[in-house]
Amino acid sequence: MDTDSHLIPAPRTTHQADAPNRLTPATTLHTAPGTEPLAALLRGTIGAATGLALPEGGGDGEGDGNTDRIVLRLDPDLPGGPEAYRLSTDRTLQNVAALVEGATPAGVFRGMQTLRQLLGPEAFRRAPVAAGRDWTLPGVTIEDSPRFGWRGLMLDVARHFMPKDGVLRYLDLIAAHKLNVFHFHLTDDQGWRIEIKRYPRLTEVGAWRSRTKWGHRASPLWDEKPHGGYYTQDDIREIVAYAAERHIRVVPEIDLPGHSQAAIAAYPELGNTDVIDTASLSVWDTWGVNPNVLAPTDNTLRFYEGVLEEVLDLFPEDVSPFIHIGGDECPKEQWQKSDVAQDRIRELGLGGENELQSWIIRHFDTWLSARGRRLIGWDEILEGGLAPGAAVSSWRGYGAGIAAAEAGHDVVMCPEQYVYLDHRQAPGADEPVPIGFVRTLEDVYRFEPVPPQLGPEAAAHVLGTQANAWTEVMENQSRVDYQVFPRLAAFAEVAWSTLPAPAARDFADFERRMAAHYKRLDALGVDYRPPAGPLPWQQRPGVVGRPIEGAPPNR
Ligand code: ACM
Repeated sequence: MDTDSHLIPAPRTTHQADAPNRLTPATTLHTAPGTEPLAALLRGTIGAATGLALPEGGGDGEGDGNTDRIVLRLDPDLPGGPEAYRLSTDRTLQNVAALVEGATPAGVFRGMQTLRQLLGPEAFRRAPVAAGRDWTLPGVTIEDSPRFGWRGLMLDVARHFMPKDGVLRYLDLIAAHKLNVFHFHLTDDQGWRIEIKRYPRLTEVGAWRSRTKWGHRASPLWDEKPHGGYYTQDDIREIVAYAAERHIRVVPEIDLPGHSQAAIAAYPELGNTDVIDTASLSVWDTWGVNPNVLAPTDNTLRFYEGVLEEVLDLFPEDVSPFIHIGGDECPKEQWQKSDVAQDRIRELGLGGENELQSWIIRHFDTWLSARGRRLIGWDEILEGGLAPGAAVSSWRGYGAGIAAAEAGHDVVMCPEQYVYLDHRQAPGADEPVPIGFVRTLEDVYRFEPVPPQLGPEAAAHVLGTQANAWTEVMENQSRVDYQVFPRLAAFAEVAWSTLPAPAARDFADFERRMAAHYKRLDALGVDYRPPAGPLPWQQRPGVVGRPIEGAPPNR
């Protein structure tokens, strides 16, 4: 198979040479200064799959006459930003088996992902399946760099917990698709998933629920067993370190002031105690937009500062310059009824509940800025006035992102109409728990993160894009895989490659390359949706979804 023409995401330029190459038991690995930590990652993936030891050859191997070597080195002059790389497997040019050069170590790492794809699908296994086979490489020189600096996947581990091993596996899958942001949705009404030492009840009480709605919230079905789990602080440190090794940034999300019932169940004083009996609340067991929101009190602000102090400690600035504080779907009914909230609005001279929410967001914007971090929130944070340094995840469409970018704010485009991977990917009745819009692989491939009406100055504020996987109806890793793949492959190409306008994109060619990519996903053990539809065990017959095309998704 001419693997170089099956690359996903598609590289910027490829020069083909009639000089195939190969890796052998004699192949050595040479790491020039700055690339040393990448050797273990290359041996852990390509080395494990091929069974080749790839012993260290020393330095960059220049001039030692050994042509049977992989060389990793930096070339800061490579154009295209820190993740730019050049990969050559053309022996006539380089006199090596493979030369991977990056503008920075991140660029070398991205180039290593391309090298793995060039070796064929078996290079995605964890151990060799055939002894003594040849590992051929097509002779190519590839020059590549990403279109966007923010290429993300958001994983909701609150609605359904994903054990730590699954998160590490997802970081590997993200890396294999050249994505570089992992948005970690850690808290919601249905669960609090991060250990906070000073508030142990957040996980003692908030990390589990006694039962779970099975299907969309309109479904009459319940799963009557407890569900839960959380990451200890060491688990979080491990996840962050694992991401950092793979040049993936982590954006932790602590959602406030809505989506907070798990926290209120743990610490009832965080809720609107003058409106409802918050002590009677438990971690929410069903889905939807929840009226039980945080009280806008000093106590709440101090409490969340305490949470964020530990979060900043666990997610250091180099891996997590952005901290997500949610801000989405905060119903205002309790604040309307609450004397405490109304007094606060009066004291502060605010114009109502939206401005009260904005005041809370601004508080944390100031607090995070003072600690060298940047706040990012869902697009509702625009309502009532956006805090000056804040960035926006534009999820309800393009509109908020356009307004924010035009006002000079940075934006991550993730409109639910295109890149919400919880939405069903085909119209058939056999799609498991069909939710929201039908968004096919082709729809995702034709997603354009920068709307054409943005002028160049505003367009420069689009940091990039991310796909979001909300897990209300994804009860385990296999269901997450089904929703995320294969669409994440199309998304990865949209985020990395410079593609024509949506209508002009060559989806047929993408599908042709997907034939090879499905084999890579098979080797990786990904439970993707097959092109012909769900396998019998991937279906969820009888579980109610919300399969109304054109209706608001109303998860
Ligand atoms: C969201 O989907 N509520 C951000």
